[in-house]
Amino acid sequence: MPEQKIHFHDMHSTANDLLEDVITGLGKSPRSIPPKYFYDEQGSQLFDRITQLEDYYPARTEISILQKYKQDIVQSLNKHCLLIEPGGGSCSKVRIFINDLQPGMYVPMDISKQHMLASAKQMSKQMSWLDIHAVCNDFTLKLKLPDGLPDAARVVFFPGSSIGNFQPSAALQYLLDISNLLGNGGQLLIGVDLKKDKNILERAYNDSEGVTAEFNLNLLTRLNNEISADFDLQTWSHYSFYNSEQSRIEMHLQSMCDQVVNIGDHEFYFAENEKIHTENSYKYTVEEFQLLGLEAGLQVDKVWVDDGKLFSIHLFTVKTK
Ligand code: TRP
Repeated sequence: MPEQKIHFHDMHSTANDLLEDVITGLGKSPRSIPPKYFYDEQGSQLFDRITQLEDYYPARTEISILQKYKQDIVQSLNKHCLLIEPGGGSCSKVRIFINDLQPGMYVPMDISKQHMLASAKQMSKQMSWLDIHAVCNDFTLKLKLPDGLPDAARVVFFPGSSIGNFQPSAALQYLLDISNLLGNGGQLLIGVDLKKDKNILERAYNDSEGVTAEFNLNLLTRLNNEISADFDLQTWSHYSFYNSEQSRIEMHLQSMCDQVVNIGDHEFYFAENEKIHTENSYKYTVEEFQLLGLEAGLQVDKVWVDDGKLFSIHLFTVKTK
């Protein structure tokens, strides 16, 4: 059996962030919980199911664009690059082009350790030529590579419109961070969901099979399991809608009655219909996103869009003066 070229770097933040972040978020007005906490084992699996849903057009559309324009994309990217994928938990989209690209190294980063390790191992089995350095970290906090990686041209692959989960000002900051990580000549290949008919958007985040609802509610199950909260799952519901003024899908958990929830020594009173904001997913036009890239010092190289104009994949290059 060939030796698998896989290394693992645990750069995870400390374990008691969850309790602290939840207490802080629930104390705010409006109440919120950071979306990164969706992704425990169960949450990561549910999210993979979301990406396979007919109603969730972003994933399948992005995949179809990658498949259709694979040649062009691969030819546009730095050869033998160090390919970095923040949030690359299930490594599924990168598989479409990684064989053709033949990067010098693949560096997936994800907060969900077991999930990422399992998929990185599987990938390593199937692609024994590929050098993998899997990093467990919270890529929303700090984009940091482990020491000692080769000094090759860098490419960041950031699919799934995850950039849309940041507020626009934070998205700009994140693009700046990516740009710093990449260095001059580095490239960013990034998937961005587009503005479109409200009904299509709302269906994608409130699917008919109820998987998105299950995913959202799983956050409360996680809090019950990990920080001894006593959320009664029967009394909470998934609520999402498109806020057209802010160009974003908003995801909430809504209390169906007046109630008190205990988390350790903390007590939270929720009125009927009161909400906890769990996620935003901002939508852009191609031009709006290109402008955001330009603001972050990224030069627009190419953009690929599906025929239905549902989703876009942008290629930017870092150009420092
Ligand atoms: N990046 C994905 C998006 O904004 C994340 C996502 C999809 C998501 N469905 C969700 C996050 C449901 C929370 C709840 O499209």
